[in-house]
Amino acid sequence: MKLILLGAPGAGKGTQAEILSERLNIPTISTGNIIREALKNGTEMGLKAKSFMDAGQLVPDDVVIGIIEERLAKDDCKNGFILDGFPRTVPQAEALDQMGIIIDKAIDIDVADEVIEKRLSGRRVCEKCGASYHIDNKPSAKGDLCEKCGGALVIRKDDRPETIKQRLSVYHEQTEPLEGYYKKAGKLYVVKGEGSVAEITAKVIEAVEA
Ligand code: AP5
Ligand code: MG
Repeated sequence: MKLILLGAPGAGKGTQAEILSERLNIPTISTGNIIREALKNGTEMGLKAKSFMDAGQLVPDDVVIGIIEERLAKDDCKNGFILDGFPRTVPQAEALDQMGIIIDKAIDIDVADEVIEKRLSGRRVCEKCGASYHIDNKPSAKGDLCEKCGGALVIRKDDRPETIKQRLSVYHEQTEPLEGYYKKAGKLYVVKGEGSVAEITAKVIEAVEA
């Protein structure tokens, strides 16, 4: 199964991708996570992406397309994958098509902007392993430390209120047109993304199995 998870920043793409990845036994590929990892390791790509990311802007298409092409060529993608955060522009979707990759479904997790702002301002991430929490909805059992690795939980730089607004505006302008792109291809499934994580997972699975 080759899936795309579409949705605004904070719609729950990463949360649902992690659950689906275990259930379907296919890897999740998150361009955001790959870029953050590159940044942590001080690679040239990471440094190039940093200013865009911190400002809530998209990283240039050629950079992310290169990342995806390289990642999808790996062995573990042979039986399928879940794309979390890619494509995010029409040229990125076209690049995927040009790579000869046939997507089964694009599942759009639809969440109102006001809900997004609340979710992202409460998110905490592990500095060490990147695991994601939420102060109200998904607190760590270890308080300010990561349940998985004991690393410190921090606020993502792009989760500051003014940057959240910027990311939402970039989303509406550049990413939302992908709904039309995949609708036209007969691959779009829209899932209402408000409610508990388990409720949304049930709807996402329903779309996967439809
Ligand atoms: P990326 O890391 O992809 O961030 P994003 O799309 O902005 O999405 P988020 O990770 O913020 O949200 P999510 O939908 O994964 O939500 P989550 O599950 O964490 O990208 C970051 C940056 O990298 C971009 O701004 C850009 O600069 C660059 N980039 C990446 N890909 C790119 C591309 N293709 N092209 C160009 N640039 C690119 O949930 C959010 C919070 O809500 C969590 O705390 C979670 O616990 C909580 N939560 C989740 N579900 C629920 C629920 N149902 N109820 C209550 N709380 C919930
Ligand atoms: Mg994410």
